[in-house]
Amino acid sequence: MTKKLFIKTYGCQMNVYDSKRMADVLKPHGYTLSETPDEANLVVLNTCHIREKAAEKVYSEIGRLRQIKDAKAEGGEDMYIAVAGCVAQAEGPEMMRRAPAIDLVLGPQTYHRLPDMLKSAEEQRRSGRRSSRVLDTEFPVETKFDHLPQDSDYEGPAAFLTVQEGCDKFCTFCVVPYTRGAEYSRPVQDIIDEAKLLIQKGVLEITLLGQNVNAYHGDLENGKTASLGELIKRLADLDGLERIRYTTSHPRDMDAELIAAHRDIPECMPYLHLPVQSGSDKILDAMNRKHTAERYFEIIDELRTGRPDIALSSDFIVGFPGETDEDFEATMELVRRVNYAQAYSFKYSPRPGTPASVLETQVEEHVKSERLTALQALLGEQQIAFNKTSVGKTMDVLLERIGKEEGQLVGRSPYLQAVHVDVTNTVQDHSTDNIASNMMNKLAKVEIVEAGPRSLKGVLAEQ
Ligand code: SAH
Ligand code: SF4
Ligand code: F3S
Repeated sequence: MTKKLFIKTYGCQMNVYDSKRMADVLKPHGYTLSETPDEANLVVLNTCHIREKAAEKVYSEIGRLRQIKDAKAEGGEDMYIAVAGCVAQAEGPEMMRRAPAIDLVLGPQTYHRLPDMLKSAEEQRRSGRRSSRVLDTEFPVETKFDHLPQDSDYEGPAAFLTVQEGCDKFCTFCVVPYTRGAEYSRPVQDIIDEAKLLIQKGVLEITLLGQNVNAYHGDLENGKTASLGELIKRLADLDGLERIRYTTSHPRDMDAELIAAHRDIPECMPYLHLPVQSGSDKILDAMNRKHTAERYFEIIDELRTGRPDIALSSDFIVGFPGETDEDFEATMELVRRVNYAQAYSFKYSPRPGTPASVLETQVEEHVKSERLTALQALLGEQQIAFNKTSVGKTMDVLLERIGKEEGQLVGRSPYLQAVHVDVTNTVQDHSTDNIASNMMNKLAKVEIVEAGPRSLKGVLAEQ
């Protein structure tokens, strides 16, 4: 019997990857994906705990789901609600207490056990036991990667592939080391095998994922380990793989081999998300980032020497405890000096259990808001300026989906900009639809004709 599965994903790309893998592991048990929770037999919320509002959103979603679940129960139909991801890991037992509608709670390391957990909840519910709830947030000795199905349903030309998980850095603001556990790198051969499967399914671009992806050090067959730069080199040798990206990197682990990969390997895209968080050495130290602003500039210079067109991105936190106007100005200065293509910025959010949350030098909310506004204005200007430099250029765009307007396809530039491509200019005797479907899921040469703050517009160039 086929059953319906609805997964809602919050947070980072690693959760996106994990959600896919949960669907893969449930497929042999008869589950197919549904677009809405209404017809679902199982709803999985794959949660994020990085900032305050993230968890609150999950609780309100559970409230909505409870109504669907209750209505179904009245009609004699079963629905199970599972909470996975980082909130589950951090607050599993508390979530169970606070939201009785939850049937299953599982942490990011136990997804391969989801079918068993579900079976046990079903059996308990069928036998009429009052408590049919199951919680599993252990960090198993074995890794989920060894147990997830080999094959994965894949559609589209761009895919994520998790190569590293967990974090040993313990930045003082961050929950990730507590929710994802210690750093672990998958063996090189496993990653190559998974990449080959993706390529067979038509994937042209792979984004390698890890909370600390450039700390990657995966086993090789010869007993040695490979760095991320080495892994990228091996992946670039695979026939059919056109583009390689990776995220998220830490400045501490930007080694010479990885910097050289940007210079030497054409498949390694000229885009790097390298979060710096702050431009003040005092704050960087208090954050336990273990590098200075000057070291960050050196890395950027080395990258730009090897690959002058590399586009840079970062994460910033404003209002970390103890941040003065002067510290914040150092962040603004860093942004002016680096000149980003795009970036994410956040107000510091105290996370339970992290060292910075108990510091007495918390910054007032209105100060955080003012600083965020000023920083985002500067980053926004830089992003528009960067996008404008694309106008008139012809670049490869990986066309991933149909756009809202007729004859429009949407894809990504090498610099990760969204590009809306009008394909009607090439229409001669065949229809627009035909052209569009022929170009989908492919790399196309596109001439950029217009730049907006968040995306570009282009037309197909001579292929
Ligand atoms: N591993 C990555 C980041 C993972 S979290 C790295 O080391 O950079 C993604 C981003 O969320 C972080 O870069 C940081 O900018 C932001 N973030 C993490 N914890 C936060 C907190 N407590 N308050 C505000 N922003 C936070
Ligand atoms: Fe969090 Fe720091 Fe680890 Fe990134 S490096 S995941 S910010 S602890
Ligand atoms: Fe969020 Fe966990 Fe990712 S806290 S950002 S889902 S690692």
